[in-house]
Amino acid sequence: MPATVVIGAQWGDEAKGKLVDSLAESASLVARFNGGDNAGHTVINAYGTFKVRLVPNGFSTPGALCAIGPGVVLNLNTLLQEIATIEASDLALSERLWISPRCHVVMPYHPLVEGIYEAAKGTGRTGTTGRGMGPVYADKVSYNGIRLYDLQQPEVLLEKLRIQLEVKNRLLQAFEAVPLQAKQVADEYLALFERLRPVVREPFGIVQDALQAGKQVLLEGAQGSLLDNTWGTYPFCTASDTLSGGACSGLGVAPRWIERVVGVTKAYTSRVGAGPMPTELLDSTGEVLRKEGQEYGTVTGRPRRCGWLDAEALRFTCQLNGVSELALTKLDVLDTLPAVKICTSYRAPASSQPAHYWEGNSAWLETVQPVYEELPGWQQPTRQLREFGDLPANARAFVQRVQELAGVKVSIVSVGPERNESILIQ
Ligand code: IMP
Repeated sequence: MPATVVIGAQWGDEAKGKLVDSLAESASLVARFNGGDNAGHTVINAYGTFKVRLVPNGFSTPGALCAIGPGVVLNLNTLLQEIATIEASDLALSERLWISPRCHVVMPYHPLVEGIYEAAKGTGRTGTTGRGMGPVYADKVSYNGIRLYDLQQPEVLLEKLRIQLEVKNRLLQAFEAVPLQAKQVADEYLALFERLRPVVREPFGIVQDALQAGKQVLLEGAQGSLLDNTWGTYPFCTASDTLSGGACSGLGVAPRWIERVVGVTKAYTSRVGAGPMPTELLDSTGEVLRKEGQEYGTVTGRPRRCGWLDAEALRFTCQLNGVSELALTKLDVLDTLPAVKICTSYRAPASSQPAHYWEGNSAWLETVQPVYEELPGWQQPTRQLREFGDLPANARAFVQRVQELAGVKVSIVSVGPERNESILIQ
């Protein structure tokens, strides 16, 4: 049984957490491949309600191994807290958790450097989660990162910190921040590392073994495709590879193992932070979506920007990731609306031709107008329904139109936050 990748097909917050949690029920191994504690996956199941940022979402499946691949960057405090919370819920995790020593570590200067850049950009800021993602990945690609490997050897860590702080402290001081002491940071991080040491072991071998043995391997993406560092709305994006291909580099899984790519999309659109969002609604309908959909950031608590489903962007992310099936989440959020709209394409200024997401940069996307198709609403509750045929006819028509426009079949419709509140479509 080759690997399944689950990725966000929008700007993140597509309710991937719930989906991965339910797919994990039949998986032998669940692995994270990108991002860090900027992610926030909410899971509600028999063990409780969890908001996980780093631990792979197989933690609620006692038989599943959980792997964090080298593409992930780690905030050690967040990780240790998360492991403790999960283990306090009677879920043994440590013996089945494998964390790559190749993972880069978020150091205390990373969020500080990020804050300096965000302040300097003023109104043009990205609106990050403040978790130091940009600077930690920048240090990774410029050979200035500190990896878990370095924490295994105190003298190596101290020397690397000395070099980093020689540069970073000057920046911090120039912006009136307190400089950091190498020895103090090293001691703190070595102590944190000691608590993690038993689970820091390269997962490459167990991932390869599981693939070779034909076991179910689930590769869990964080954030969403439109936040990808290369194909997202740069510079209003995140620092990691959020696409299905990111699973290959972020975990060391060759493309030929990936058979199924599940793209997760909400029945509408949301985004946190700045950047273009052609279907954003600044009116009372946007407010209904935010309220009904509980659209507030898991990490920052910020209200999310909400709007109609953008099928132009969705078609693009399906192509980009090779999505083989879509999971359409939060359909129930639309239950009360008299009519629902879907954006089928864009119109650029002074053009009568349909324009596509991939044709221009973020500044250009700010200028396009969405072209909408309006469908009648269903104005009936759907949360208790478990069969596609039981959905109101207008809701079924909406799902069908989404798959036509995206060019990919919808195989799962989610109608509520709990594990069982889903409809599988054969
Ligand atoms: P960063 O990843 O914290 O650097 O933030 C960069 C952009 O990505 C900001 O617009 C964030 O709001 C957004 N972002 C990062 N992680 C997530 C996520 O898990 N869900 C939704 N948006 C995210």
